[in-house]
Amino acid sequence: MTRVAILISGGGSNMLRLVQAMHDGGFATPVLVASNDLQAAGLAKAAAHGVATAAVDHRSFGRDRAAFEAQLLQPILAAKPDVLCLAGFMRVLTPDFVRQFEGRMLNIHPSLLPKYPGLHTHQRALDAGDAQAGCSVHEVTAELDAGPILGQAVVPVLPGDTAETLAARVLIQEHLLYPQVLRRFVAGDRTPLMLEGSA
Ligand code: GAR
Repeated sequence: MTRVAILISGGGSNMLRLVQAMHDGGFATPVLVASNDLQAAGLAKAAAHGVATAAVDHRSFGRDRAAFEAQLLQPILAAKPDVLCLAGFMRVLTPDFVRQFEGRMLNIHPSLLPKYPGLHTHQRALDAGDAQAGCSVHEVTAELDAGPILGQAVVPVLPGDTAETLAARVLIQEHLLYPQVLRRFVAGDRTPLMLEGSA
């Protein structure tokens, strides 16, 4: 059975959808949920679903990303994951870390990549006057938010949208998209999945 570890930084709603999909669908086993924030609300949610958790506070390492990652790697390697899913993990990973999971690390990003890598994606879509927004699941490579796209879901931008209302509409699609992409990825299917979300 494919072993999946998930990295989070916050609420972990995407993580939860992945864990539920793996439990319901039986296509993989969630072996670890790890966070860079000891207070991440998703850690308790993962534990409540019987998934092992770990947390390493990135702030105690200052600007030393490599030292933080070395610490984070310990529980990850101990869990022996085949696939690593970033799900709202808000730390940039070094090329060294990425290389260790090359071809088996996924991320979900709240924009229609290649548009708007990085932060504040919804506000940037609104500022640009885009008619559509959405989310992408992609393979993680050393370049931020730039790896091969494995799936996207599109939603309309509606009159009066704020970054918050648009984010909420996109998040609904994230929850649908990521489990489906993971399931396909585990089965060896890397053809991009395209979903059309509704308002
Ligand atoms: C999600 O919208 C995810 O796409 C985004 O953070 C949110 C996490 O929510 N990720 C990024 O912005 C990554 N750069 P969640 O903790 O409820 O899944």
